[in-house]
Amino acid sequence: MNLPLALRGLFQEADWRATGIPFAESEDAPDAPADDAVLDVHVQAKHYGARTILHDVRLRMRPGEIVALVGASGCGKSTLLRLIAGLDTAFEGRVKVHGRTLDAPSSDVGFVFQEPRLFPWRSVADNVAFGQLGVATDNSRVAGLLADVGMTGRERALPKHLSGGQAQRVALARGLAGSPRVLLLDEPFSAVDAFTRMKLQEMLVRLVQRHQVAALVVTHDIEEAAWLADRVLVLDAGSGRLRHAIDVPVARPREREGATLAAARTRIFEGLRDATPSEPPLPP
Ligand SMILES: Nc1ncnc2c1ncn2[C@@H]1O[C@H](COP(=O)(O)OP(=O)(O)OP(=O)(O)O)[C@@H](O)[C@H]1O
Ligand SMILES: [Mg+2]
Repeated sequence: MNLPLALRGLFQEADWRATGIPFAESEDAPDAPADDAVLDVHVQAKHYGARTILHDVRLRMRPGEIVALVGASGCGKSTLLRLIAGLDTAFEGRVKVHGRTLDAPSSDVGFVFQEPRLFPWRSVADNVAFGQLGVATDNSRVAGLLADVGMTGRERALPKHLSGGQAQRVALARGLAGSPRVLLLDEPFSAVDAFTRMKLQEMLVRLVQRHQVAALVVTHDIEEAAWLADRVLVLDAGSGRLRHAIDVPVARPREREGATLAAARTRIFEGLRDATPSEPPLPP
């Protein structure tokens, strides 16, 4: 399938930002069993020119699981999402969704970006209805998704009349419009205020449980990673490998505080420090 125009528009910014995300997991990382995995990825190598961005990255996810991907800026997180989304096939390795090798964008994989990237001339309902691949979704599913994200009553609104948080809710509904098995989210809540961010995080957890998608969330926020995720993967900026995999064994609904979450935050912080190149010293 050719990449539809609408999808190219959605990814325009990611394109100029030059994506290159390493997506790998350490050998001893806890992982979904192969027969249970809805997403099964092995990126042997992803290069940009002479540079290796991702190296031997493995990831399996099961339905209803949330995995957070963290790592230094430029280490390759967005690149990895692009490979999984089928938007970049120039790599060694393979991406399997529900047992099928993906070599192009598919309705099996939904995505949400930092900015909502709604089509400004389309209403809320039409933005969801036409989804990301421009394939029409039926009205009752659109209504159900808008109810799921608390946007019932705003179906006819244009994006310019929405707050940032509301627009991101619509983007979440659109990401789920094609009934995907995998939902990719690239820093989805980093542009909203702290309170709205918490509400959107809670909404994402509900959506993942209700729709039983496997959600892979890129974030720079350690608190967000720990609170949202069942597992946190740390991508190494130097090697392009998944350096650490940190389990967050806390039942849902989760409190924001608690010793286990605090311990997970500490481990994520230490993992990030370990996987981030040190800055050169400032000149005297
Ligand atoms: N099309 C491209 N051509 C060449 N280099 C690229 C291209 N796309 C990305 N890169 C490079 O690959 C590396 C990884 O980029 P990527 O956007 O995946 O990083 P990231 O981890 O998402 O960073 P951030 O946290 O800042 O979003 C960067 O050094 C980037 O400059
Ligand atoms: Mg990125």
